[in-house]
Amino acid sequence: MTTSEHLNVTAEINGVNVTESVETRATLAQFLREQLGLTGTKLSCEMQVCGVCSVLVDGEPVSACTYLAADVDGRRVETVEGLANPGGLHPLQQSFVDNFALQCGFCTPGFLMMATALLRRNPDPSEEDVKEYLDGNICRCTGYEPIVHAVLDAARTMRGAT
Ligand code: FES
Ligand code: FES
Repeated sequence: MTTSEHLNVTAEINGVNVTESVETRATLAQFLREQLGLTGTKLSCEMQVCGVCSVLVDGEPVSACTYLAADVDGRRVETVEGLANPGGLHPLQQSFVDNFALQCGFCTPGFLMMATALLRRNPDPSEEDVKEYLDGNICRCTGYEPIVHAVLDAARTMRGAT
């Protein structure tokens, strides 16, 4: 349905083509969570400050709390639900578990999506690279050291290094 307050959006969400009528004012986070039931993307500050809501649009990180759902029309969206495969967890997810890189876990989807983007563009990041890339993501449990180690470990695993 396309009206003055709604429009049709067709997007690839975690590899699946979806067409939905969305409110023109709806954010991507609302679209994912309330319309598609993809509640892995969390909301906290809702003002593009904490990184909790990070998802990828055409491979680039965006804050789903402020990005309009209408703007994903014709684009590819990746959320935390798309990381694992039938064979098991994504190496980043497994590394977060192995490195105790989560406490309450609320920030974890955002960190995982940002780390996914980082390792695609830089498969062999330094510790400083990881800290710099993730510095827009806040963990209220302040588990930053294990998170950095988890990303570096996952990078090694994904490169096939020992
Ligand atoms: S909820 Fe989007 S950046 Fe905080
Ligand atoms: S693990 Fe609790 S906010 Fe990060």
